[in-house]
Amino acid sequence: MSSRTKVVDALRSTDFGKEITVKGWVRSHRNSKAVDFIALNDGSTIKNIQVVVDPSTMDAEQLKSITTGACIRVTGMLVESQGKGQACEVQSREIEIYGLCPGDYPMQKKGQSFEYMRQFAHMRLRTNTFGAVFRIRHNMAIAVHKYFHDHGFYYFHTPLITASDAEGAGEMFQVTTLDLDRVAKSGEVDYEKDFFGKKTSLTVSGQLEGELGATALGAIYTFGPTFRAENSNTPRHLAEFWMIEPEVAFMDQKELMDLEEDFIKYCVRWALDNCHDDLEFLNQMIDKTLIQTLESVVKEDFVRLTYTKGIRILEETVKQGRKFEFPITGWGMDLSSEHERFLVEEYFKRPVIMTDYPASIKAFYMKKNADGKTMQGTDVLFPRIGEIIGGSVREESYEKLVGEIEARGMEESTYGWYLDTRKYGSCPHAGFGLGFERLILFVTGMQNIRDVIPFARTPKNAEF
Ligand code: 4AD
Ligand code: MG
Repeated sequence: MSSRTKVVDALRSTDFGKEITVKGWVRSHRNSKAVDFIALNDGSTIKNIQVVVDPSTMDAEQLKSITTGACIRVTGMLVESQGKGQACEVQSREIEIYGLCPGDYPMQKKGQSFEYMRQFAHMRLRTNTFGAVFRIRHNMAIAVHKYFHDHGFYYFHTPLITASDAEGAGEMFQVTTLDLDRVAKSGEVDYEKDFFGKKTSLTVSGQLEGELGATALGAIYTFGPTFRAENSNTPRHLAEFWMIEPEVAFMDQKELMDLEEDFIKYCVRWALDNCHDDLEFLNQMIDKTLIQTLESVVKEDFVRLTYTKGIRILEETVKQGRKFEFPITGWGMDLSSEHERFLVEEYFKRPVIMTDYPASIKAFYMKKNADGKTMQGTDVLFPRIGEIIGGSVREESYEKLVGEIEARGMEESTYGWYLDTRKYGSCPHAGFGLGFERLILFVTGMQNIRDVIPFARTPKNAEF
């Protein structure tokens, strides 16, 4: 028996007449009187290999038992295909059944809704769409590492358990070994008795520790899970998501925008160059404009727009009769994704890097402009997604940063180590965070963020 050939390699092979062994899961099985056709997939490609079975080579009952979802080994000759749609096929000599698949297999039927499939997140991986999505997700992770490695950034691992709130938004999951039932009975919490001797949580961002890395190694990036206990039941929010956070010493706002644009274009270009078959499939099944949208993002310059100008455009638009679900209340308001998408999809028809936000709606660490009102934030807004990157130049002045921490009523003592970067050899620096799943949403054309992470964590949902 020949050793196993992956389907992706078998389909590329022209070694006709040679015996090969393929192993995988049955996508479909149809039979006519003279011959059976089994479409076999092993996850190595979106494409199936066609197995042609002469029913006289196998026990009839056994052959019949090979239904959609079953797992089999096929050994037989690779031949040029007579039929349309594939270059080659396997003429089965011998089939071994690894696992039968009973009729209640939840992925049996074609055309199930994504909502239905979410209930079977452990099984949906075996469908064409999720196979494509997760092969692309892998490729995008490789692109991220390759980009930063090639540009002289160091991959820097920041902790997941932390005592500080990086975004200061108070949306953290607490981490404790205290017995909550006993705490409830005694009516008070003694954090000194807790595992770390203080109150700790899962991190919302690796940025603050990333800044420590950048102000020593020059340029770093993090790429890991982050956690937010925000009760946002939207198609763009997860409670556990992956973030990529580069941080660079001596970088100014213009250079930061250049980095954001160059990085994201590199990732999209990588998908176009390395995920062709999967993108073709998604273009056909999910969004007919997908590949065209990806290509135009790579080609076009992103618009660079201040928040103040953005608000002016939105106000003008409302005057001309455009209605938004969330009203435009003027300078100082936080934009919702509906407003962001209007600017990107309708007004400019291109990605937008929005800069210089009011200090009041952004995090404490951002560098204030000379006007004292705005901060050097630089977010990237994308078609279909809204905010895909949040970034900024960092406040490097010790005094100003302490002032901001105090003004916001944050616990200064938990940020001592962070403030030391400003106390000892402070340097101008900047960085951003890209939501990995939002990038995957964009690249795959999928509509819901729950469908681009294998096992989604959302409010009231931690199954699997
Ligand atoms: O804008 P955010 O909150 O920025 C930060 O966390 C900074 N510390 C980043 C930095 O400057 N190093 O989050 C960054 C990105 C967002 O633009 C969005 O793409 C994604 O993270 N994001 C989420 N993705 C999925 N689910 C959520 N709940 C998300 N919250 C933010
Ligand atoms: Mg943000």
